[in-house]
Amino acid sequence: MTEPLPADWTSWRRRFDLDSYERRWERLAAAGVDPHGEADLVQTYGPRSVLDAGCGTGRVAVELARRGVDVVGVDSDPGMIDTARAKSPDLRWVLADLAELALPDRFDVVVLAGNVVPYVDADRRAAAVTACARHLAPGGVLVAGFALRPGWPGLAEYDGWCAEAGLTLADRWATWERKPYAGGDYAVSAHTSMR
Ligand SMILES: C[S@@+](CC[C@H](N)C(=O)[O-])C[C@H]1O[C@@H](n2cnc3c(N)ncnc32)[C@H](O)[C@@H]1O
Repeated sequence: MTEPLPADWTSWRRRFDLDSYERRWERLAAAGVDPHGEADLVQTYGPRSVLDAGCGTGRVAVELARRGVDVVGVDSDPGMIDTARAKSPDLRWVLADLAELALPDRFDVVVLAGNVVPYVDADRRAAAVTACARHLAPGGVLVAGFALRPGWPGLAEYDGWCAEAGLTLADRWATWERKPYAGGDYAVSAHTSMR
């Protein structure tokens, strides 16, 4: 991230129109930042199906679909979903609040990429994690990456929501490239279903 992180998703959306949001990823890619670290990590699980939870404009979902994975993208921001759908009309995009998600499908991996967890309203985060867990196939993995900063959820809190949802911590890294986590300000967590 090159810009300082605003405290909530509404502030983000006030600051960035969708064109500049998209251009930001293009700028990062042009600067040599791999925009597909999340897709690479998710693919290490060899999933047939992935739920991109808080998919935004579809950065991760579109790349996974390009690699042959069956993907569904869910987001509560109509503008983000519309942009994703315009980019990849053949993929399945669902406008929904994660805290209330109730799809009939179950997925090998549910991924929360790009600070989705802190951007979910504070009083809905536990419910969002529970709903993500509910959408896992048996043996499925919930993968979430988010920055650790004052006022945002911490790892103990996140692990607690996962435990309440029947998930147990399997792995934790400092980056999507799976650098070992050693107490830094960003973590990628993988939780597996105990049910
Ligand atoms: C920083 S963007 C990340 C987008 C995408 N995952 C990526 O990495 O490119 C955070 C996304 O979380 C979504 N979001 C926030 N709260 C949500 C909720 N309760 N339900 C679904 N999506 C939510 C926002 O609409 C936004 O698209």
